[in-house]
Amino acid sequence: MAFLEFHQITKRFPGVLALDGVSVSIERGACHALVGENGAGKSTLGKILAGVYQPDGGAIRLEEKVIHPVSPHAARALGVAMVHQELAFCPNLSVEENLCLGDQPRNAAGWVNRRELRARARAMLAEIGSNIDPATLIGTLSTGQEQLVQIAAAVGTGANVIIMDEPTSSLSLGETRELFRLVRALKARGITLIYVSHRLEEIFALCDAVTILRDGHHVVTEPIGATSPQRIVRQMIGRELLVREPAHLQRSYGAVRLQVENLSSPGKFTGIHFSVRAGEIVGLAGLVGAGRSEVAQAIFGLDPAAAGTVMMHGRALRLGSIRAALAAKSGLVPEDRKRQGLVLSMNCRENSSLAALPLLTRFGWVNRRAEHELAERYAKRLRVKTPSLETSIASLSGGNQQKIALAKWIARECDVLIVDEPTRGIDVGAKAEIYQLLDELAGEGKAVLMISSELPELIGLCGRVLVMREGRLAGELPRAEFSEAALMGLMAGVAQSAA
Ligand SMILES: Nc1ncnc2c1ncn2[C@@H]1O[C@H](COP(=O)(O)OP(=O)(O)O)[C@@H](O)[C@H]1O
Ligand SMILES: [Mg+2]
Repeated sequence: MAFLEFHQITKRFPGVLALDGVSVSIERGACHALVGENGAGKSTLGKILAGVYQPDGGAIRLEEKVIHPVSPHAARALGVAMVHQELAFCPNLSVEENLCLGDQPRNAAGWVNRRELRARARAMLAEIGSNIDPATLIGTLSTGQEQLVQIAAAVGTGANVIIMDEPTSSLSLGETRELFRLVRALKARGITLIYVSHRLEEIFALCDAVTILRDGHHVVTEPIGATSPQRIVRQMIGRELLVREPAHLQRSYGAVRLQVENLSSPGKFTGIHFSVRAGEIVGLAGLVGAGRSEVAQAIFGLDPAAAGTVMMHGRALRLGSIRAALAAKSGLVPEDRKRQGLVLSMNCRENSSLAALPLLTRFGWVNRRAEHELAERYAKRLRVKTPSLETSIASLSGGNQQKIALAKWIARECDVLIVDEPTRGIDVGAKAEIYQLLDELAGEGKAVLMISSELPELIGLCGRVLVMREGRLAGELPRAEFSEAALMGLMAGVAQSAA
């Protein structure tokens, strides 16, 4: 009998059957991948094991005993912990306070023993090879560091089953490598891992077996050696993925729509110059911290310290003014869409049409019918999984929230469109739709600048790619010279190229 068994697990949310009789067996000490498109039910299955949700039907067996984790605390007592996709700690407490939450060492008078607290936290961090200062406030940590603290908490409380929910979705390259090392170390100790991700390279690098969920159903569980990336993609989306050559590459481009000259911002980037023509999709590559998002923000008027020239339609833009950028018909789909791009209390329809509304003018009525049509068109296009367009955004899965946020910005009529990591957190099927959508927008004559950390997507979609390194343009590659090695070389500064 398997170490851990989900038997016929069913979970309903209002209007959604999130899991429909899912049965999965997991071997002791395995790193078991859980994959599926956004909304497939991966997080829900993890949360049921971790005591966050109670199933409506079915049973879980751990070492042949039926368990009922009725709360995260109860799950911990059973040796099960989850590293969440969303922030799980109190941001205004310190690392040590968070690590010892609920079990703070006290002296005879009942006061928290600070020194003991720190020593215990430091030991928990050292256990996973981290040297984060225990006194740091959680709110000031990077996502990667916060995840490490969550993992330290899991390991430190003796968890022997750890669920990691899309752990690398907002990590830098270095942080991802660090995490991989840690995952392997945990496995070597005999800890059983359930690894939720839709990044197939990661799954093939780390996991022993893979379970695929689709629309709340169990599709298959296989050893990793018995499958392939193509097979998994097919099983995830239930159809063949069409890979087309982008149409914009076949057309000649129009006039220069966006021209940037000698753009600088103290401490962020220096001497940036490039242009994008109507109908063109230009990529912007670089490592995390290279200054790509900062450049995009400056172009869009979000950086009061920026100096230099930004021209749209041949006319110089007043820098530092979002109003001027919007008036020149430019749009920015920000990277952190959850924080900057969505109004969580609004429903899907309201959110996807939000940016298309003439927000900055105060007159005019909203045409409800047009609004509904627009929302419906994009929701269908990007396969947003929601019971209805009137559903609150907050209850959608993370990837589906991303899709709505993206739809919202793309729906804005604009001539210059900057998209920052447009497919982060989005599954393979929807990614293909987004590429197609961007290609169509270019076909309508928009000038598109795409920032991305995923080299295959830059290589697939762009006519040329600009590379930034440490706040400067390190070079530019035309499509004929695209390769991951060439781009990586420029990003990391190990190769020279004529800029
Ligand atoms: N707390 C919740 N309230 C209502 N619906 C939810 C809730 N959590 C998840 N869902 C719905 O359940 C389905 C599965 O979601 P989830 O498990 O988050 O998917 P995944 O992690 O695979 O992207 C989705 O349709 C999602 O909208
Ligand atoms: Mg999820």
